[in-house]
Amino acid sequence: MIVLGVETSCDETSAAVIEDNRVLSSVISSQEIHSQFGGVVPELASRAHVRLIVPIVEKAVAESGLPKDEIDGFSVTYGPGLVGALLVGVNFVKGLSLALKKPFVGVNHIEGHIYGNILSQTDVRFPIIFLIVSGGHTQIVLMKDHLQYEILGKTRDDAVGEAFDKGAKMLGLGYPGGPLIDQLAKNGDPRKVSFPRAFLKNTDFEFSYSGLKTSLLTYIEQNGVEYINANIHDICASYQAAAVEVLVKKTIKAAKIHNAKQIGIAGGVAANSLLRKWLGEESVKSGFDLYLPDLKYCTDNAAMIARAGLEYLKRNIHSEQTLNAYPALKLKSLS
Ligand code: KG4
Ligand code: ZN
Repeated sequence: MIVLGVETSCDETSAAVIEDNRVLSSVISSQEIHSQFGGVVPELASRAHVRLIVPIVEKAVAESGLPKDEIDGFSVTYGPGLVGALLVGVNFVKGLSLALKKPFVGVNHIEGHIYGNILSQTDVRFPIIFLIVSGGHTQIVLMKDHLQYEILGKTRDDAVGEAFDKGAKMLGLGYPGGPLIDQLAKNGDPRKVSFPRAFLKNTDFEFSYSGLKTSLLTYIEQNGVEYINANIHDICASYQAAAVEVLVKKTIKAAKIHNAKQIGIAGGVAANSLLRKWLGEESVKSGFDLYLPDLKYCTDNAAMIARAGLEYLKRNIHSEQTLNAYPALKLKSLS
């Protein structure tokens, strides 16, 4: 089955064509304009999507090497995300579906991240414990089968990606902060500063990242900018270690309790090198297979949306022209 996916939930305009698990084309345009503001400006994101959607989709179709009429269906993110940004993709795909007389389906962005991981796997065995970590989400999901999810726990406040982005902003590093902290942490000592690990000892799967952020702010205020700049590698390494340790410990615990066959990570923070290394080591120790997504399918992309959509389309499930965008859409199982 050939599916064209579209993703416009935040600041990436992306389109991709897949044939089953094979990506024929994947075009992603990251909107540079937001970096000067230290975060995504919703109105600017919507306008950029409007400008980019036609050329990006055309490029994805051209690079797939297939004529448009060989596409069997379309898939688009309809939430969660920025409403104005989501609407651009949703309306564009509705138009494509009408014009080309092929079905379309709206998919949840988080579900897309999960399928971004599955996309690069050859041997998928359920149940899988998924750690979903992005700029807007931090949750542990038990996936019992295709399109079947149980949320075991999530963050009570900030997402871990947000902690990376806001932490980097406080340190004067720029946006997005995750990759910058990851890079600087490589030459630093993670034991130099003892940042808090919220809920580490709790038996549940809840997270909290606002305290970590506040403790960095206090640390910067107490030590001054000069000291911070001189010790930036150690501070980044310590901050990153605090953020990642809770993710690793809780994920392993969830996999043990729920007798998972595999562990998967998904979302932008799944690109983090310490998380990949540490969770890899702990998975080996505990006897779990770890599914690491290809780096290019960790951050927002449309190939993951096409792959999630394919699971619906092949079951003959599609959306209607009345589909709306839902900024706070919850992850739900297919009933
Ligand atoms: O999944 P994504 O592209 O967008 C959302 O759905 O939110 O994730 C973006 C997030 C940002 O917070 C970014 O800083 C973080 O993923 N990120 C990383 C790394 N690469 C991206 N965080 C830590 N380490 C990285 N290497
Ligand atoms: Zn995302």
